Amino acid sequence: MADGRLTVGGCDAVELAREFGTPAYVVAEDDLRARAREFRGALEAGHDGPGEVIFASKACPVTAVMRLFAAAGLGCDVASGGELHLAVRAGFAPERLYLHGNAKSEAELKMALEAGVGTVVLDNEHEAERLRALGGGARLLLRVTPGVDAETHEAILTGQAGSKFGMPPDVAREVAARYDAAGLHMHIGSQLTSLDPFRRAIAALAQVGDFGVYDLGGGLGVRYVPGEHALEPADWVAGVLDAAHTELGPGKELILEPGRALVATAGMTLYTVESVKDGGAGERIVAVDGGMSDNLRPMLYGASYTAALAARMGATGVACTVVGKHCESGDVLVRDALLADPAPGDVLVTPVTGAYGHSMANNYNGVPRPPVVFCAGGDARVVMRRETYEDLHARDV
Ligand code: LLP
Repeated sequence: MADGRLTVGGCDAVELAREFGTPAYVVAEDDLRARAREFRGALEAGHDGPGEVIFASKACPVTAVMRLFAAAGLGCDVASGGELHLAVRAGFAPERLYLHGNAKSEAELKMALEAGVGTVVLDNEHEAERLRALGGGARLLLRVTPGVDAETHEAILTGQAGSKFGMPPDVAREVAARYDAAGLHMHIGSQLTSLDPFRRAIAALAQVGDFGVYDLGGGLGVRYVPGEHALEPADWVAGVLDAAHTELGPGKELILEPGRALVATAGMTLYTVESVKDGGAGERIVAVDGGMSDNLRPMLYGASYTAALAARMGATGVACTVVGKHCESGDVLVRDALLADPAPGDVLVTPVTGAYGHSMANNYNGVPRPPVVFCAGGDARVVMRRETYEDLHARDV
């Protein structure tokens, strides 16, 4: 921030909006590298045995982001043929790819084997049979549902009993023996802010048997609004490793697969204010040129964000409701945003949108999806262009 003006990677946010248009996802490139280093460093510092950090690409499947993480020495988690396609194109070594998914198709399994994917994380027995029929070739891990509840929105909780993902410990024990699994996988949920559920889940893995490889998933939460509790990556990694060493024994191969925590804070969204008016309850309603087409998280999970005016950072403001341009009343991006005299034409920014913003974007109301702009050292470049109106009918036949 300089003179109350917001900068991203050394670039003035208002200038970025002028140059690239809005809405736009802007990403501080160095921040991505710093997070990758932080996770890798913490794993190396806390674990003697083999192991790796892999990027859960669903959080931000942008080729430039994936390329950056491949160069930074991360592996990659892909959950579909599409993510696999992107990861291979982005330059990840196939043996460092992990194929996930609870409904992998035969075509996806075949594609993975042909690409030389190193590890397939098996969700169920049908898939194990299909893979066997295809001749196998990849290392197998079994996804275990440890039966652990964690504190997060129920839509992004995955390790509880009855989850649609993976198999309970007793089933996993049998399946592991039958299909010669190298190890186990767990992913208990997303946007988690405490180590306790990880400890309990890792203890549940220990009950399945003794394996050489454990993929302990992602799930580390980030701070979306000031004052919200979040663990630092280094503390999360240290805590998870500690539980793994205690419960699973020394010398195991350990894999961590963060998504959100690698990309969330590096990204923010720039909008232009289109209108300002007073609502029936006396609140000020500030409407911007994006909304639920570029950030579904407030609507899906009741997720909180903050908003600020890029040219008047830190100025005293009044409580505003920031709404999008879509034809639904639920299209509210931020409640109680303190904005200083917002007016049409102002550039409004919502920080911490680097994870699951772009990846869950859509074309509702025929709104083209925003570009992704990398910023570093005062230079900005588009790494994914804005969609055009022509893109909206490009699939017509
Ligand atoms: N590994 C597996 C197998 C996963 O399913 C996920 C996320 C991750 C790793 C990465 O989790 P993370 O570190 O990002 O929490 N759309 C939701 C999040 C869904 C997460 C799905 N799985 C949101 O916007 O909050």
